[in-house]
Amino acid sequence: MPIRTILHYPDPRLRVKAKPVVVVDDTIRTLIDDMAESMYAAPGVGLAATQIGEDKRLFIIDIADEDAPSELRVFINPEIVASAGQQLYREGCLSFPGVSEDVTRAAEVTVRALDRDGNAFELSASGLLAVAIQHELDHLDGKLMIDHLGVIKRRIVHRKMLKKDDGPRTPAH
Ligand code: NI
Repeated sequence: MPIRTILHYPDPRLRVKAKPVVVVDDTIRTLIDDMAESMYAAPGVGLAATQIGEDKRLFIIDIADEDAPSELRVFINPEIVASAGQQLYREGCLSFPGVSEDVTRAAEVTVRALDRDGNAFELSASGLLAVAIQHELDHLDGKLMIDHLGVIKRRIVHRKMLKKDDGPRTPAH
């Protein structure tokens, strides 16, 4: 299973709106395995297919503590069907190395998706898991954390990324 290159902002492929997965087959499962290996190697807590240039509505999340057993969650063709409240969370992103910024998102979300076997499931999440789901779903629509920032912060992050300034890592999606 090869580790895939994670695209960095401002790569235009990060702006692609991904297409639904038609069949959950071994090709998709191989892609999921590659994504998991790439995410853990980074290391990160979430990765969307668009971040490795794959035009598919699929993301993975693992928010387990580093010293705890891994809890890989797979979301194929995800849809948020309900959301409530607001929370502010300091987010990172594997496509923005060295950047972490406060982003406001829903406090709770309910998501419907398919798992790696193609079975439908529904999950209600809060806290970091809810943040990660919203962050990754944004990626599938070509939307990035920078889009959630105010004008000045957006400009600072944009310039920082153009300089390819790799700062300290924070938990990244
Ligand atoms: Ni991200």
